[in-house]
Amino acid sequence: MEVGSRSECVAGCQPVDCPIQLACDDDGAPACAQVKRSHGRILQLCDVLEEIADALPGRVDRGQCRIVGDMLMPLLRYGHDYEEQHFFPAYERGEAEPGSRAQTIRRLKGEHMADEGAAQDVADALSALGDGAPVTNAEALGFMLRAFFEAQRRHVAFEQEHLLPLVVRRAI
Ligand SMILES: [Fe+2]
Repeated sequence: MEVGSRSECVAGCQPVDCPIQLACDDDGAPACAQVKRSHGRILQLCDVLEEIADALPGRVDRGQCRIVGDMLMPLLRYGHDYEEQHFFPAYERGEAEPGSRAQTIRRLKGEHMADEGAAQDVADALSALGDGAPVTNAEALGFMLRAFFEAQRRHVAFEQEHLLPLVVRRAI
């Protein structure tokens, strides 16, 4: 195990102090840092989706649509899989309010599933634009993009405010 990688911990905590250290990868990569990085990528993607929505209908960058259409699903699935395999189980193992924690995780997993369904629709629409399809209903497309990235921002904000602080609180 590479102990040096612990310096990546969001709170700079030591393994002995960290309540979610069991969520860290076998190679010692800290789960909190991985989740933070994945959230950062999703939020960057949300900013690009907002740019595309703002550019509708006439100023759309079709190359940008193609790139985002291609990367949206893999990026989201990677982030969701990581959280569900490494981070959520550690959160559920916490001692305080176990029933409420399990309920929170059920809700977050439900959001992941719904978000992946919505992401596929967004990816398909952006890929079509990237392939040169005309913007037939800019209002509906803009609404779909905004609904998606606003839901992503809310989801990420909740996980950052309610799950990641577990680490920070213990490290202070
Ligand atoms: Fe999530």
